[in-house]
Amino acid sequence: MTAFGISKKNVDRSFQADPSSFIPHSYSHSLLVSDNPRQKCYMHLQSDWFKKQLLPGASLTQLQDDYSYHLDRVMHLEKFQGHFVTSHQSDSEVTVSLGRFTRHILSHCSFRAFFDETLFELEPDFAKIYQTWEDDSWKVFYNYPYILAKDLHDARIRAIDTLARYYQLPHEARKPCWLFGVMNSELEAIGFSSTDRAGMVMMIVWAINNNAHYICFWMISHMLCNQELFTAVRSEIDACFDGKGAVGLDKLLSQCPSLDGTWNEALRLYNASTAVRKATADCYIGNKIIHKDDQIFGPVRNWQLDGHFFGEDAGTFRADRWLKRKDLARSRGFTPFGGGHTYCPGRYFAQRETYLFIAQLLRRFDLQVADAEGTTIPNPQVPPVEINLPSPAAMRPVDDMHIKVKTRNVVS
Ligand code: HEM
Repeated sequence: MTAFGISKKNVDRSFQADPSSFIPHSYSHSLLVSDNPRQKCYMHLQSDWFKKQLLPGASLTQLQDDYSYHLDRVMHLEKFQGHFVTSHQSDSEVTVSLGRFTRHILSHCSFRAFFDETLFELEPDFAKIYQTWEDDSWKVFYNYPYILAKDLHDARIRAIDTLARYYQLPHEARKPCWLFGVMNSELEAIGFSSTDRAGMVMMIVWAINNNAHYICFWMISHMLCNQELFTAVRSEIDACFDGKGAVGLDKLLSQCPSLDGTWNEALRLYNASTAVRKATADCYIGNKIIHKDDQIFGPVRNWQLDGHFFGEDAGTFRADRWLKRKDLARSRGFTPFGGGHTYCPGRYFAQRETYLFIAQLLRRFDLQVADAEGTTIPNPQVPPVEINLPSPAAMRPVDDMHIKVKTRNVVS
């Protein structure tokens, strides 16, 4: 938390149980006081709020509707302008960098769903600033000082400053999602300054944005390098659109086995998250003694590449393995979203934003792998995964891929 500029005093406060004992009377309406029968500390109650916002229910539906609204508006060729377009073939065809394109579209829509346009009125480059920080965010784990990570620290300061200014606006001038509204008011109740509140929100902005665009990249690149898979996914997706051009999310989530296989396989092969736990008492794992206060690291990719769970070809991308073995997604070897207390509450939103984006991409456009100038590449290959940089979860590719995107003639 201190890597997000939050003062040591406030870090301690956020973990202090019985918050009603130190919250001023003027904040007696605070959820920490009025809706906290077990007197949990701020951080533990915040985990409950993550679930309230992000597990299936009215708040998640609102978020995904807002996300779909923005996606629907931005997924038009004439809106494809900016740093991700590398060449322009005609009014109905452009070439884009796949990495920058997926990242741009997902962040464009999710930032607007979680905050609102006001954030971009305050700082039109907010997404770019955040992404500069995200690119180097692995350095956070190693406490890189300013002198060795100037871009990281400068981008963090600018992003947090924008978020702080957003929260300083009068209530009626901004419309964050429920979670980001509650975090702001409850952090204020425990004495956080607007900059420290913004630092805490920035941590969640990181969780929201950091992984899904890489998983989308891998899904799309594998589909484009495997015609059979591409055709299977596209025909499943086409069947989810109605005659008016609207996509049925329930159908996408329940009637697209090849899309599910591609999602699971990308999560399995390209996810390097590590579960970190601290022993609260002496215990054993098998015959190994773990002492109280020892830290245990569980790197999920080792299990996900384990032939014991996934067979001899565990290192190969095979979307069809999930069709053949329906039980695989429940296997102990498959934990892309972690588990236990910190089990990713954003897993439903992540799947929905990814499926909706891929559905609109495949429905509205014809796609071909090309070079940056738009020359088609026959027999394209998926780029290798970056294994030399630490990654909090989804892994990045070593090289980008370019795709020609052409408006598709679809008969509704
Ligand atoms: C494919 C995309 C995603 C992957 C692979 C992923 C993975 C993970 C993992 C492995 C953890 C556990 C980390 C730990 O145990 O320390 C986690 C935690 C978390 N994720 Fe995700 N995540 C994704 C998308 C999202 C999205 C879209 C959101 C928000 C909308 C989100 C919100 C969170 C939050 C808030 C936590 C912390 C939970 C807590 O500590 O109580 N994630 N994620």
